[in-house]
Amino acid sequence: MKQHNRKQPLFLAFITFLVVTLHQSFAATDVPPTAAAPQTTAPPPAPPARPERGNYTVTNGNGTVCLMARMGLQLNIRFSSASLNNTVQDVLNLQPNVTKSSGSCDSDSATLLLMAEEKTNLTFVFSLNATSSKYHLSGVTLSAAWPDMSEPFSASNSSLDYLRGTLGRSYMCREEQTLAVAVNFSLNTFQLQVQPFGLTGDQFGAAEECQLDEDDMLIPIIVGTALASLVLIVLVAYLIGRKRSHAGYQTI
Ligand SMILES: *[C@@H]1O[C@H](CO)[C@@H](O)[C@H](O)[C@H]1NC(C)=O
Ligand SMILES: *[C@@H]1O[C@H](CO)[C@@H](O)[C@H](O)[C@H]1NC(C)=O
Ligand SMILES: *[C@@H]1O[C@H](CO)[C@@H](O)[C@H](O)[C@H]1NC(C)=O
Ligand SMILES: *[C@@H]1O[C@H](CO)[C@@H](O)[C@H](O)[C@H]1NC(C)=O
Ligand SMILES: *[C@@H]1O[C@H](CO)[C@@H](O)[C@H](O)[C@H]1NC(C)=O
Ligand SMILES: *[C@@H]1O[C@H](CO)[C@@H](O)[C@H](O)[C@H]1NC(C)=O
Ligand SMILES: *[C@@H]1O[C@H](CO)[C@@H](O)[C@H](O)[C@H]1NC(C)=O
Ligand SMILES: *[C@@H]1O[C@H](CO)[C@@H](O)[C@H](O)[C@H]1NC(C)=O
Repeated sequence: MKQHNRKQPLFLAFITFLVVTLHQSFAATDVPPTAAAPQTTAPPPAPPARPERGNYTVTNGNGTVCLMARMGLQLNIRFSSASLNNTVQDVLNLQPNVTKSSGSCDSDSATLLLMAEEKTNLTFVFSLNATSSKYHLSGVTLSAAWPDMSEPFSASNSSLDYLRGTLGRSYMCREEQTLAVAVNFSLNTFQLQVQPFGLTGDQFGAAEECQLDEDDMLIPIIVGTALASLVLIVLVAYLIGRKRSHAGYQTI
């Protein structure tokens, strides 16, 4: 029986190791939303930290919320710089605390206008197809007048097809997503959840996740399944081993 007793703590230690590994593999994939650590040394100009998540709403004439969006936004612009006398590529985070939202809602289109310090105007247009009950982001317009711009920047595209969702539900994408708008302008979205139609009160409807999120979730599921199988195999092997050793004692 001595031999048997020595095996048990070893087995427990192994299971503990597996559980810890499993836990860590899950924790590692759960990227913290504010990954930006303050830097003491002079940081390179680009890319900036993840943008803060803003809470933007549009209210109807009668005071009901008709569009809701929570997202971090990053503008990627190529413009001609006055100080460098050259074309530069700049990445700028939209700061929620200085950004005002407004807009309008119709039965088949909804507009969200974000205005940051009078220097940046960003407009989103969502369209609803009443026949199919599907909506999508159909247009984005940006006009910007930043200090270093040799002339005001503007870009627009009204034939986009992004953020596709179903009426009454919200569209969600935790992962960073890049929306190409025009040759000199693209938009990066972070931790996005938006619902441009069919809101009840000021609550989001059920969320429809983007493909990026689903792909991301696949990895921990695969790792978890593999580790769970390993635990099972070890457990079965242990039980068989124990049964054999018992059998061994009985024959003595
Ligand atoms: C954003 O809106 C949600 C839902 O209305 C609310 O619960 C949350 O407190 C808001 N967050 C901020 C930072 O305003
Ligand atoms: C507010 O107006 C919208 C249309 O503009 C309508 O669908 C909704 O029922 C109205 N809500 C209230 C509380 O009157
Ligand atoms: C894009 O930027 C370049 C350089 O600033 C400029 O020459 C070009 O006209 C811009 N294209 C559009 C479509 O605005
Ligand atoms: C800017 O560059 C253009 C051509 O590249 C040149 O003609 C002009 O003199 C430059 N302006 C300044 C202020 O350097
Ligand atoms: C907005 O937030 C940024 C960073 O969170 C901060 O540096 C800035 O001072 C804030 N501006 C205002 C007007 O509150
Ligand atoms: C709306 O959806 C229906 C069914 O999917 C499609 O036949 C129709 O072309 C769509 N309408 C528009 C304006 O996209
Ligand atoms: C943004 O819109 C406001 C109000 O319409 C306007 O006063 C401002 O000049 C616009 N800013 C830019 C950069 O277009
Ligand atoms: C607008 O977006 C569509 C789809 O992404 C793209 O094919 C088209 O070239 C864009 N138009 C302009 C003017 O950039």
